[in-house]
Amino acid sequence: MSTRPVVVLAEELSPATVEALGPDFEIRQSDGTDRARLFADLADADAVMVRSATQADAEVFSQAPRLKVVARAGVGLDNVDVKAATEAGVMVVNAPTSNIVSAAELTCAHILGLARNISPAHEALKAGEWKRSKYSGVELQDKVLGVVGLGRIGGLVAERMKAFGMEIIAFDPYVTSARAHQLGAQLVTLEELYEQADVVTVHMPKTPETIGMIGPEQFRTMKSSAFVVNVARGGLIDEEALETALEAGEIGGAAIDVFSAEPSTDLPFFSRENVVVTPHLGASTAEAQEKAGVSVAKSVRLALAGELVPDA
Ligand code: MLT
Repeated sequence: MSTRPVVVLAEELSPATVEALGPDFEIRQSDGTDRARLFADLADADAVMVRSATQADAEVFSQAPRLKVVARAGVGLDNVDVKAATEAGVMVVNAPTSNIVSAAELTCAHILGLARNISPAHEALKAGEWKRSKYSGVELQDKVLGVVGLGRIGGLVAERMKAFGMEIIAFDPYVTSARAHQLGAQLVTLEELYEQADVVTVHMPKTPETIGMIGPEQFRTMKSSAFVVNVARGGLIDEEALETALEAGEIGGAAIDVFSAEPSTDLPFFSRENVVVTPHLGASTAEAQEKAGVSVAKSVRLALAGELVPDA
């Protein structure tokens, strides 16, 4: 048994994370997707650090009698059962602002990619096909961007896409018109947003109320040319309804970074030319991973020293 507190890294975290933890801990690399290995590694662990592939649930806490803190190196806590952690006396910490710029930038990249057919044109040219007219796109200037959820990430997307000359409309029941105005956006109802937007981008947390919030009815309300982007949470868009809407030509295309079940490699819409998919890359930049890792490493240090952990 180790004489130093044990911190288990259940997923690959940035080198800066380990550096920020410092020499006072035994750092143990584990694999959160391999439950047997994770349980063995947690037997004498004081802290565990996860990204999004590890389910930190009641069973995990029951296997870790010494566990004092579970740290999510990211914004959301979808894969951490906070109630079970609290019942087990385990503190939960995360890094709520670490990757907002990265997530916003990936969203903007997807919007631009959809508008200009970058992904299918790239595929075709690599396959030896020079098809200029087939991949003619649309300008974003003067088009309407509908931002569903004008929080930290949605706000950054709004500001950035405004610079492309887009008109920004947004739905967010928690944001005032004054704040929306500051971000260059005008608040509208969800229905108005789906009706008017040329691009719909969703930036909501995953809750029982938001799961499937973009489904058959919403797709039918959208313009047949509309692009739909989800770099937020898998499941906000009903995946079956998305496939049906694409098949029926109810929307113009989609860019999806997050899925109801991850990893996902063979959903029906993956083979469509007007769909671009990425494997949950919103937070996957050197900068975001460094910020997330360092932020939660500091919280873990404080928590294990019995000190107050400030809100990030
Ligand atoms: C987040 O919640 O911040 C991201 O999903 C983190 C990640 O990709 O690991």
